[in-house]
Amino acid sequence: MATTQRGIHDDVNPQGKASRPLAVYGIAAVAALGGLLFGYDTGVISGAELFLQKDFALNSFTEELAVSSLLIGAIIGALAGGKLSDAIGRKKTLIVMAIIFAVGAILTSLMPNLILFIACRILVGFAIGVASFVSPMYIAEMAPPKLRGGLVTFNQLAVTIGIAISYWIDLAIANANLGWRPMFAVAAIPGVALLIGMLFLSETPRWLAGRDRWDEADKALNYLSPADKEVELKSIHEAVTGGSPPSIRTFFRTGLSLALVVGVGLALLQQFVGINTVIYYAPTIFGYAGFKSASGAILATSVVGVVNVIGTVIAILLLDRVGRRPLLLVGCVGMAIALAAMGIVFQIGPNNAGVLILIGLLVYIIAFAIGMGPVFWLLSSELFPTRLRGTGGSISTVANWGGNLLISITFLSLIDVIGKPFTFWLYALLAVIAFFFCWFLVPETNGRNLENIEGYWKNGRKWQ
Ligand code: BGC
Repeated sequence: MATTQRGIHDDVNPQGKASRPLAVYGIAAVAALGGLLFGYDTGVISGAELFLQKDFALNSFTEELAVSSLLIGAIIGALAGGKLSDAIGRKKTLIVMAIIFAVGAILTSLMPNLILFIACRILVGFAIGVASFVSPMYIAEMAPPKLRGGLVTFNQLAVTIGIAISYWIDLAIANANLGWRPMFAVAAIPGVALLIGMLFLSETPRWLAGRDRWDEADKALNYLSPADKEVELKSIHEAVTGGSPPSIRTFFRTGLSLALVVGVGLALLQQFVGINTVIYYAPTIFGYAGFKSASGAILATSVVGVVNVIGTVIAILLLDRVGRRPLLLVGCVGMAIALAAMGIVFQIGPNNAGVLILIGLLVYIIAFAIGMGPVFWLLSSELFPTRLRGTGGSISTVANWGGNLLISITFLSLIDVIGKPFTFWLYALLAVIAFFFCWFLVPETNGRNLENIEGYWKNGRKWQ
């Protein structure tokens, strides 16, 4: 059977009756609630900070701790999540995380002091760390190749919707003078929705097959992708029974170590281009640019949140048409230009700096949202062979959260030490490095069967 650029399913099912799109979209939407919680719980802190400062009498160190505790929890979650989802399955992992999200949201909103608040944020962060790669992995393993890119990107869309909702809810709750507690409690609603939804969904065929539960894998595929079932079963069979048992050392055999380099490299670069300086500190950046009132800065931030969602919708429409690489490359160029231009605005300090920075941030966020944002998470669920997907996805996710923590806790100090223009130019340089990394190392996975991608690495980066 010939494999074309569009993938082996074209050969098998030219009429495109390979799947049940409606069911598959429903499944992706439920699992993507994990992404919504990821976005909400990370975004919510920016609006809550002012209230926490007052209630817990925060100084700059304890404020940094209040912000970054979630990221510490997420690193631990990403570390544990690979083993957990391989051991108990993707479905049960998401169910346990949904419970932690819901209970954690209520507990956070009730905490009487900073220590207990931080403990709750670490707990919720743990669930975010696990869900940030198990949700896209669950979707990737349920989706037929033709729909996979767009569907996995549902998760990133949900992350951006979560961030945007958190900005608007923060704004509404702040305007109503209700303080920080309800801001966190609201996250219990999507937590419960994720729990209920996952109870109705099945385990992924690939995980079932890896556990030798072929009858159930067969049943799941029969439901998800009836016309493609035989081909899918065959390729899953080859992947889960061939070769040595799963081990981290497997990565270091020829070819697979490079898959890990690409996964981890993209994870770090996604953060090093500075996305979360915008997500967490946008009101501060607008303040630097001369926005006089806090509410004006927060409103501008909410607009950035909406544009982030719009950019991600554009990515979903394009990913399976033009492929992953063009979006990544165009996105890196856009980010580099926007960051360099913002550095220049800060350097020159024109009268209309506020508007120029708003335009710069909007171009930057669109460029991130069509490229690095969705494509990193998609590739981290596609790059690794089935047996190593849990471990590989987990390592890249840990690197992503580690990079996130590093950038988030150094941004304000960088501004102090090297100044605003050089800070933005540094991120611009990192966007240029990201461009070359993607150009030379990232393969085009569009339309490829997951097992076909494994072959690419094993054959010294050649498609068969
Ligand atoms: C990143 C997050 C970021 C979000 C913004 C995600 O892909 O991993 O760190 O906050 O995009 O949309």
